[in-house]
Amino acid sequence: MVILSIDTSCDETSVAITEGRRVLANVVYSQILIHEKWGGVVPSLAKRAHEEKIDLVVEKCLKKFEKYLHEDMTLFAHRHPLIREPSVIGSKYISSLHCPFSIIDCIAVTYGPGLAIALEVGIKKAKELVEKYNKKLIAVSHMEGHIYSAFVQNSQGHPVREFEFPYLVLLISGGHTELVLFKNHLSYEILGHTIDDAAGEALDKAAKLLGLGYPGGAVIEKLAEKAGNKDYYNFPRPMMKSKDLNFSFSGLKTSFYYFLKKHSIQSDTTTFSTPGVLELASSFQEAVFDSLLKKTEAAVKKTGIKRLIVGGGVAANLYLRKKLRQMMGQNDGSVLFPPYKYLTGDNAAMIGIVAGYKAEKKEFIKEFSQLDRIPRLDL
Ligand code: KG4
Ligand code: ZN
Repeated sequence: MVILSIDTSCDETSVAITEGRRVLANVVYSQILIHEKWGGVVPSLAKRAHEEKIDLVVEKCLKKFEKYLHEDMTLFAHRHPLIREPSVIGSKYISSLHCPFSIIDCIAVTYGPGLAIALEVGIKKAKELVEKYNKKLIAVSHMEGHIYSAFVQNSQGHPVREFEFPYLVLLISGGHTELVLFKNHLSYEILGHTIDDAAGEALDKAAKLLGLGYPGGAVIEKLAEKAGNKDYYNFPRPMMKSKDLNFSFSGLKTSFYYFLKKHSIQSDTTTFSTPGVLELASSFQEAVFDSLLKKTEAAVKKTGIKRLIVGGGVAANLYLRKKLRQMMGQNDGSVLFPPYKYLTGDNAAMIGIVAGYKAEKKEFIKEFSQLDRIPRLDL
């Protein structure tokens, strides 16, 4: 099943073409430069940028797909020199030259969670394509995409990674922080979640308070590394004593804010070289990661599940990956991260992979015109 998928849930316009778990083409247009100066995503600007770019991103993705088909044909002919006309792929390829949509079986789109007016742009485009080319439509949750991102393969089918259910999943993005039990394909149970800010959001807010720009997670990672990834200030770690698997980061953010105020550290005057900035970034990151590690370890102990998947933008952090690997090692467990860097950020490839499993179960939208965005969609 060849699927064209679209994700416009936040500040990235992305379109991908996948087959099973293989990504044949993926294009991401990032709006970071647009939102940077505002210190966060501005929904109306996000919507406008999605509208301006969506056709171009679809077009670019189709071009990449055609290039892939062409290369695949060459490879195929090379591997089978006696077969001059590899019938199935060949005929598909030839018809795709006239219209790549003849090779695409269905259209998938993210319908939540995310920014309502941003999601709408992707859904509208998906409906348009469904109608124009008479395809089936599949609706996917953005968070399901982040879960499956650990199993996304390149066009050659790497990495192989077989599924070994059940898994524990730590989802850490700009809008979500959740511990999920991944029982089987498309079957989940939420074990814990943040009761206020998400981990990525907390890092972004701390970076903003330090005048380090948006998005802040990656900048904080770099500064913390320079400070030796140590904890200098011991900021509070809320909910560490609670028995549940929930997270909270707003108390940490408030205490950070008052600390900066007390020491007259202001975002409009601080730079990377302001004394103490490295140590503050490092200490804040330690507090956030400490919470993530402790609660994830508690979930491992509570469920007895020793296979962890980590997904979402914060999973790009190499220091956090090392800490999670260590923690899982100490618990005789293992951890899977998205295998390619682009998969930690938002992308349509992961949406296409989920859609492949939904297509197997025939989970198509019956009346496509009725699909609507659900900004607060739960797993
Ligand atoms: O999954 P994502 O791209 O978008 C959402 O669905 O929210 O996650 C974005 C979040 C931002 O908060 C960003 O600061 C964080 O991921 N992030 C990082 C790193 N790269 C991105 N956090 C920590 N370390 C990083 N290297
Ligand atoms: Zn995301």
